[in-house]
Amino acid sequence: MLILGIETSCDETGVALYDTEHGLLAHALFSQIDMHADYGGVVPELASRDHVRKLLPMCDQVLERAGRTRGDIEGIAYTAGPGLIGALMVGGSVAHALGFALGIPVLGVHHMEGHLLAPMLEENPPAFPFVALLVSGGHTQLVRVDGIGAYEMLGESVDDAAGEAFDKAAKMLGLDYPGGPRVAALAEQGTPGRYKFPRPMTDRPGLDFSFSGLKTFTLNTVHAAQKEEGTLSDQTRADIALAFESAVVDTLMIKCRRALEQTGCDRLVIAGGVSANRRLRASLEKMAGKHDAHVFYARPEFCTDNGAMIAYAGAQRLAAGQRDGERIVAVPRWPMNALPAIDEPRSSGLVD
Ligand code: KG4
Ligand code: ZN
Repeated sequence: MLILGIETSCDETGVALYDTEHGLLAHALFSQIDMHADYGGVVPELASRDHVRKLLPMCDQVLERAGRTRGDIEGIAYTAGPGLIGALMVGGSVAHALGFALGIPVLGVHHMEGHLLAPMLEENPPAFPFVALLVSGGHTQLVRVDGIGAYEMLGESVDDAAGEAFDKAAKMLGLDYPGGPRVAALAEQGTPGRYKFPRPMTDRPGLDFSFSGLKTFTLNTVHAAQKEEGTLSDQTRADIALAFESAVVDTLMIKCRRALEQTGCDRLVIAGGVSANRRLRASLEKMAGKHDAHVFYARPEFCTDNGAMIAYAGAQRLAAGQRDGERIVAVPRWPMNALPAIDEPRSSGLVD
């Protein structure tokens, strides 16, 4: 079954063609980062308008790259949420209009399920069950995954998401949005041990996270250093970046170790934008090595938002017979454990 996948939940337009027999055929990604850079974050209305401009030409582009035509598409998957409502509506409208015109099924996909399943696009995909650490700009969650749609939430952030914390720390250090990769690059020059940051909520049992205290700690450290130095030296900024990154990575690693011990799983999947972080991958691999466990993640371009993950997740559900009704589904907030299992009727978990 040939599926067109469409991702427009935030500031990336992603389109992909996935074939349930032959795998990923083509994908295209356009990032709006430069457009939003002047504003220090994503401007929702600008995001929607740019998705309108880019989406249809990109659909034609992936079809051309794969040597297919619109008439070859057998199903369409689009991100139905969570995300920015205007941006979601662009993807939903295009998907439903195309689906109606072509007479093929259309399905709204959960963005975080897309992230979660992105490592399935790699050469050695993880088998079920596994523990997944979902770390994006809006979510930090530990989930036990027994199959597609069989998700048990083990823990999540009670305040900021890990990616959001990276973005805020970046701002404090004078770095542009999105901050995660920039903080990571600056941390490369950092001196280990100059600053010691807390590892929030690791001294008590449980699998929840909290990153807002770390944000305050970073701000206080920046202010104290400014008092001493005036304008911060590049070395001090790098040292703070490293201390911050190490604290987030350690905290995530400790909770992942706990989740593996608690569930008895020996497979750990990391997904979402922050899973592109090299220090996080190395730390989790080291921990997993000591526990005879394996770590799985997607290639960097499929860690952040992309169309391939939506095409893949949608393909699994469309192939199982799930599909939208006639209405476009766009859900800004949508808990992932409300999703139906793959063999349940679609209506059981979805706001339609
Ligand atoms: O999954 P994603 O592309 O979008 C959401 O669904 O939110 O994640 C974006 C987040 C941003 O907060 C960004 O700063 C963070 O992922 N990020 C990183 C890295 N690459 C992206 N954080 C740390 N290290 C990275 N290399
Ligand atoms: Zn995302």
